[in-house]
Amino acid sequence: SGYVTLDIGYKNTGATKSAITFLDGEKGILKYRGYSIEQLAENASFIEVAYLLIYGELPTEAQLTDFQYQVSRHTLVHEDMKKFFDGFPSKSHPMGQLSSLIGALAAFNPESLKQGLSTEEVNLEIMKLLAKMSTVVSWIYKKSLGHPVVYPQNKYDYVTNFLYMTFAERTEDYKVDRVVVDVMNKLLILHADHEQNCSTSTVRIVGSSDANLYASISAGISALWGPLHGGANQAVIEMLEKIKNDGGDTDKWIAKAKDKNDPFRLMGFGHRVYKNFDPRAKIIKKACDDILEKLGINDEVLEIAKKLEEVALKDPYFVERKLYPNVDFYSGIIYRALGFPTEMFTVLFALGRLPGWIAQWKEMKENKEPIGRPRQIYTGTTDREYRDIKDR
Ligand code: CMC
Repeated sequence: SGYVTLDIGYKNTGATKSAITFLDGEKGILKYRGYSIEQLAENASFIEVAYLLIYGELPTEAQLTDFQYQVSRHTLVHEDMKKFFDGFPSKSHPMGQLSSLIGALAAFNPESLKQGLSTEEVNLEIMKLLAKMSTVVSWIYKKSLGHPVVYPQNKYDYVTNFLYMTFAERTEDYKVDRVVVDVMNKLLILHADHEQNCSTSTVRIVGSSDANLYASISAGISALWGPLHGGANQAVIEMLEKIKNDGGDTDKWIAKAKDKNDPFRLMGFGHRVYKNFDPRAKIIKKACDDILEKLGINDEVLEIAKKLEEVALKDPYFVERKLYPNVDFYSGIIYRALGFPTEMFTVLFALGRLPGWIAQWKEMKENKEPIGRPRQIYTGTTDREYRDIKDR
């Protein structure tokens, strides 16, 4: 027990065995439960992928109908949660609101705190969380506008209901736009899981102490917030805006990213595991072109993004370090086109990642993994005598 292997940042340390997501970073392959991300993004719905990740198999039609029905039954959120939500200042960051609200769901669902929940009881909490997350995310969006929240309509499928609660102003004038539903499905699917990344490892480690599902997911949301992780989608758009306002000189910004004395990094570039094109970025780039064309939007920052990518992919600095665009590089441009404010982007990432976090939490429980507890190598001072405050 005196021997400790040191691997700061877990660059080369496996923390678990998992049957959920396969990732080959050298080849740029990503699969959920054996299905390629390309096939899923092209053909599946987000709720179908959620089922796949959580239960291991693609649902039959009857299973999917039942799952969708069970989830939609729980989309209402306790009215007292609204009082808590109302207390956030209108300009408070959506990710701060989200992690607090999801953590608060544990307090509103005391039955989830019981130890030794049965499979049915765990499933019920999973449905509740999937359902209430979409409602809470729409609340946060509405608050950013100062608008009243819109109550769910359970006749809609998961993604349509989310878009309805988010974009409807009045029930009678809401028109479901298939183009928007399809692109949202695709984006959520692409974000749904990514094996042992920072937020997912957080969910597993918090859950390993037997903390409840909501607390574990709330911790994952906090981990996702950081700009080196999910927060990169917000940071990318802010960077592109800055470059645009600075005259659009991409070469200058590429030079800054390469300069080791300059803290600036090309946001949306590079990945701990992918040393090749991020397969999600490829799909998103194409979806981005499609949706902007379909919605008739001409976004100058897309041109800047493409130019940055083109220059970076040829530049020896990026080539040698195998730095490619990641999932966050183009996603924000789509979210913008759909009408989401920049500060909401990471919240949308969280909505997509939720089934993956749940699946990983559930797997960790089912595998009866021990509490996560890394070791350290102590580098501090040893053996000092306490000195009275007046002698220091
Ligand atoms: N711009 C400029 N240089 C970079 C970048 C970048 N975006 N990313 C990595 N590098 C350099 C880095 O300076 C280092 O150079 P050197 O070897 O000369 O010291 C080398 O490439 C290796 O980078 P690292 O920081 O040691 O790699 P890491 O695996 O610890 O970090 C990363 C991975 C994603 C945190 C990093 O690439 C990064 O900060 N990227 C920008 C933020 C970003 O887009 N994050 C989203 C990640 S994908 C989705 C998600 O997780 O949400």
